[in-house]
Amino acid sequence: MKKVLIAYTSRAGTTDKMANYLAEGVRIAGNETTVVKISSIKKETDLSGYDGYLFGCPTYHKDMTGGMKQFLFLAASANLTGKMGGAFGSHTHSGEAAPMIFETMQHVFKMDVTDLGPLNLTEEMMGTDEGTRACQQYATALCGKF
Ligand SMILES: Cc1cc2nc3c(=O)[nH]c(=O)nc-3n(C[C@H](O)[C@H](O)[C@H](O)COP(=O)(O)O)c2cc1C
Repeated sequence: MKKVLIAYTSRAGTTDKMANYLAEGVRIAGNETTVVKISSIKKETDLSGYDGYLFGCPTYHKDMTGGMKQFLFLAASANLTGKMGGAFGSHTHSGEAAPMIFETMQHVFKMDVTDLGPLNLTEEMMGTDEGTRACQQYATALCGKF
């Protein structure tokens, strides 16, 4: 059984829902997961001991949040090279945050990112069963690489 850390931020609750459906997918695939807000991660050792990582942030003002930028600086010191990774986030129209996080995981942290790319869902989609399934399937696909 592998362990996946889901670390995210959410202002209005939609990315929070994504995190919880992703966690269901990890468990459906027979793995363990810890779901945390990035604000509770204080030091790089809080990121150690996991086989896979899902980082999530909504898009505000065509950007990721300041908190997520700080979190990524911390994650840069955690040596995630070669670990499995994916990124997710909710948006309404432009959705910059999840792809930016995904690129950082891939090119800066040199993680083994999922071929699916970032999971970048609209707020509207997250109100549907299709959105729920998209989250669960993203997580099961990530776990399929273990
Ligand atoms: C002030 C404000 C700015 C926003 N800017 C963007 C944006 O630039 N691009 C986008 O796609 N969505 C934008 N959104 C929509 C949010 O990304 C969307 O509501 C998302 O679901 C919020 O996620 P959360 O509930 O996890 O906080 C904005 C929303 C607000 C309130």
